[in-house]
Amino acid sequence: MTYPRQHWYVAASTDDVGTEPVGRTICGEPLVLYRTASGELVVMDDRCPHRGYPLSVGTVCGDEIQCGYHGLRFRPDGSCAWAPNQDRIPSRATVPTRPSALVGPWIMVWMGDPAAPDLDRLPSAPWFDAEGWAHVHGMEPLDARYGLLVDNLLDLSHESFLHAGLIGTPEVAVTPIETTVDEEQAVVRVSRHMESVECPAFYTGSTGLQTPIDRWQDIEYHPPGWYVLHVRVAPAGSTPTADGDHPQAAHLEVLYAITPVDDHHTMDFWAVCRDFAVDDAEVDEFMARSNRDVVLQDVDALNLIEARLGDEWEPAEVSLKIDTGGLAARRMLQAMMSAELVTAGTG
Ligand code: FES
Ligand SMILES: [Fe+2]
Repeated sequence: MTYPRQHWYVAASTDDVGTEPVGRTICGEPLVLYRTASGELVVMDDRCPHRGYPLSVGTVCGDEIQCGYHGLRFRPDGSCAWAPNQDRIPSRATVPTRPSALVGPWIMVWMGDPAAPDLDRLPSAPWFDAEGWAHVHGMEPLDARYGLLVDNLLDLSHESFLHAGLIGTPEVAVTPIETTVDEEQAVVRVSRHMESVECPAFYTGSTGLQTPIDRWQDIEYHPPGWYVLHVRVAPAGSTPTADGDHPQAAHLEVLYAITPVDDHHTMDFWAVCRDFAVDDAEVDEFMARSNRDVVLQDVDALNLIEARLGDEWEPAEVSLKIDTGGLAARRMLQAMMSAELVTAGTG
């Protein structure tokens, strides 16, 4: 299995990274992240050029990181600042670094050519900082390939079964979806609008709404690793005004950042942004706990599938109408990887 590399991936949450080195593997590449004494974020290969010891088990000294094996010290630009008993440091004793950027609570790392990060590809997530919004977030590691999480998130019919009693109700699975593919912008959209349906515990507990509700799910997937579920829940029968405003509705933006670790592991970063009860710590706690419970149900399911798959990459499958979004996502991912191979001159 491979991954599109000319992209930004979430490596960590900002509060995960301080002046202790943190090791993260993305697209099979081990990286170390740390902050300098002045707070600058550094991302570099997690491999000392001397004998290959991981820098993530070293120490941060001021702005520099020191290898824990023979003590070589590297500056934030990856150049070697000090080596034991060595007047002239070989120029090859340098650690490659990677561009990073902050999006909401997350640190994103550019996995393409380090010299040419494409800032236009950084995802937009205005809800993290917008007035009148609050958010909670977390990450669960997955012992499964990232494609299984893409499949999972693009087809929410599974909510009725895997997440029954929490966020799933019977209506999710039986309501038809509308799938659109924007090749130019590289976005797959899947929408499901449910009218006068049961309110699941996830929304009763957070919004106070009771059955029946109108419940809209509008997915935007930006391959390879960025997913936004626009949720609107409102008392049944209430409709937005012509300009789209909808004072009776609660809105949630459920984000997933899908980061491939390697062929069989993925980091499942999630966040839930909401435009109601923004100063309510109990709702924060409820949303964080409930969404984590939902994510863990997915993690358990995908881990079971991965364990069955092993090294099989094109298993026999039967696809249904519910899979149109997932299949479109797979095609787009494949096209991205093929384009990268052609650009690299190997296709
Ligand atoms: S392996 Fe890092 S200093 Fe020797
Ligand atoms: Fe799920």
